[in-house]
Amino acid sequence: MTTTGSPRPFWLAGREATGESTVEVTSPWDGSAVGSVGVPTAAQTEEAVAAAAAVADAFAATPAHVRAAALDLVCRRVGERADEIARLISAENGKPMKWARLEVARCVSVFRWAADEARRFNGGIAQRLDADAGGTGRLALTRRVPYGPVLGIAPFNFPLNLCAHKVAPALAAGVPIILKPAPATPLSGLLLGDLLAETDLPAGAWSVLPVPNDAMPALVQDERLPIISFTGSVPVGWSIRDAVPRKRVTLELGGNGAAIVLADYASDADLDWAAQRIATFSNYQAGQSCISVQRVIADDAVYDRLVPRLIAAVEALVTGDPSDEATDVGPLINEDAARRVESWVDEATEAGAKVLTGGAREGASYVPTVLEGVPTDAKVATEEVFGPVMALTRVSGEEAAYAAANASRFGLQAGLFTRDVHAAFRAHRALEVGGVVVGDVPSYRADQMPYGGAKQSGVGREGVRFAMEDYTYERVMVLTGLEL
Ligand code: SIN
Repeated sequence: MTTTGSPRPFWLAGREATGESTVEVTSPWDGSAVGSVGVPTAAQTEEAVAAAAAVADAFAATPAHVRAAALDLVCRRVGERADEIARLISAENGKPMKWARLEVARCVSVFRWAADEARRFNGGIAQRLDADAGGTGRLALTRRVPYGPVLGIAPFNFPLNLCAHKVAPALAAGVPIILKPAPATPLSGLLLGDLLAETDLPAGAWSVLPVPNDAMPALVQDERLPIISFTGSVPVGWSIRDAVPRKRVTLELGGNGAAIVLADYASDADLDWAAQRIATFSNYQAGQSCISVQRVIADDAVYDRLVPRLIAAVEALVTGDPSDEATDVGPLINEDAARRVESWVDEATEAGAKVLTGGAREGASYVPTVLEGVPTDAKVATEEVFGPVMALTRVSGEEAAYAAANASRFGLQAGLFTRDVHAAFRAHRALEVGGVVVGDVPSYRADQMPYGGAKQSGVGREGVRFAMEDYTYERVMVLTGLEL
């Protein structure tokens, strides 16, 4: 899929603009041209930030029904253009169509939730203060107030929906946003801009600026953007927070998600389900999800029956052209990414790990891979692979399973295969992660639930309502001398 021959404009304070230079977007699958995008100049970026700052107070005061109607419109339009948008995601990101379609459906859901939350987000909680004598006749009223415009920085792996997770909560809460899509995948974020342009949101409330990464330090430092919502790599995320410790910074960073299979999850049907889910979600989007399964921690009691099922399920995955509806696993974002995965697997095997299946690269594609006996200090165990690779670990007992899962500097989500509700509660208490998914892989995410990490996986939470809370603070008004 190719956009037009001339560079695609970007969105500056709600209007289309072209820069003085362009960036080319190419298909990770075959290197073909997908589109050409205008790059904002420094002056245009300044104009967008100034417009966001100028509109902030008025936008915060916009009636909820106006914001909700705009979000409803985007929700509807994404749904109406779902097929075209999925093709665009697949073309620029290399994501197989089946996963691109799911991403579009999730984006519809994000905007639907945002419209609903805009209607609910009134902040008007009244609290009698007369439980203490000093509060006699007093009442507190609370409203939520934006910190100010947000700088949203989105990654390449969900080029539409992770833009939506920045934009929709901001607009729902009356917070202007400057969105920076990922350099490799700007077209989906810009298409979201096309739909926002169909609304009557005020100029300056939103911009989509495909600025190059080297222009980001100035934007990060800009005091007119007191909130930064970043999804991306661990070092970049923490360097942003370190650069502006007084800003409100939300970081959704990496993980090396564990799927734990406990001893009780032992019937043939259970193990078939676990194997199929783990195989699928270690490799979906070629492993390029922060919550894909990277580490499989299985109890001794089920390990030997799980592993052949896992290998069979991984080998059954259809690899190849992402535009083919049958494809399960496409390429990584580029050949460098696939080479890095290759070098990490090689490092593990040279240190004694065994390849049970996979372990080969062709261009930007890496074959879905299962490793056993990975040394605990190998990169495929300690870092975020962000590729179609899983490492198996055999443990004995629940405590050992949780200790193995926690032996990571990351803590985004974990999956727990058990039918024992008491074990589920023990895991929920023990696992140092932002979310535990019981009966499934860590890769499950509903867009309205709180999503974010513990440890080095990040700070703050997404999930529409939770992002709205992150973008705003409570301002209390105390009324005095009332007859309550
Ligand atoms: C991520 O990779 O951080 C996002 C995962 C998701 O939204 O499913």
